[in-house]
Amino acid sequence: MILDFYRSTVGKKIIMALTGAALLGFVVGHMAGNLKMFGGVGADGVHKMDHYAEFLRTMGSDLFGRETLLWVARAGLLVCVGLHILMAFQLSLINSKARPVGYKSQEYQSSTLASRGMMFGGIILLSFIVFHILHFTTGDLHFRGFEYGKVYSNVWNGFQSPSVVAFYILAMAALSFHTFHGAWSLFQTLGVDGPKLNPIIRGVALVLAILLFFGFVSVPIATSMQILSAPIG
Ligand code: HEM
Repeated sequence: MILDFYRSTVGKKIIMALTGAALLGFVVGHMAGNLKMFGGVGADGVHKMDHYAEFLRTMGSDLFGRETLLWVARAGLLVCVGLHILMAFQLSLINSKARPVGYKSQEYQSSTLASRGMMFGGIILLSFIVFHILHFTTGDLHFRGFEYGKVYSNVWNGFQSPSVVAFYILAMAALSFHTFHGAWSLFQTLGVDGPKLNPIIRGVALVLAILLFFGFVSVPIATSMQILSAPIG
């Protein structure tokens, strides 16, 4: 039963839509969390961003131990990213096999263009995520005094390089495009569709994409322009 669902084109589209929705939930939460960079230093002398990062590591620790829930969330994210990419490749293979030769309607051309854009944007995002984890989570590609747990300082120092800031802005533009088109397709796949609903869905997808873009890029821009102050100590 589950295998039949997985093997069907509709099943693959639904898996793609649901994993996309979960990943979208993660990026919205991550963007909101990043805004703690603007929170300043608390009465205890520790930056609000570092408190927040420590909270993510210690949530549920009295029941399960330190970082256990964080690792559960990481594993969930990895499964979602893996399934999302696998479904994208399988669906594009199914599409290219089913494509009638010589069929050149306007609709076919624009949908192919959008799905090529999604593939290309997805590849940029995947490269970004690999770089990003080595940059801010493990520190292997940081090169400016990375210290585990000192998130404010790691982010501030990481964004003193203009090429890194430029790469982040480019990746956030890719994320924004991917979110706009992805959120739109998500509703179509789940059958939320209709002449009255479609402009609203497009509007919601557009607002979400714009919020994500500006919410995310505000941190590298404010840091590189020294609007956020240098870390103490
Ligand atoms: C300007 C944009 C971004 C900034 C400043 C930023 C910042 C950070 C920081 C500081 C960490 C490490 C947190 C810690 O050690 O506690 C992190 C982790 C991470 N970020 Fe981002 N992030 C950005 C955009 C994104 C985007 C767009 C995605 C996904 C598409 C993403 C996915 C992740 C993932 C998967 C982790 C690893 C989480 C973990 O394993 O703990 N980030 N980010």
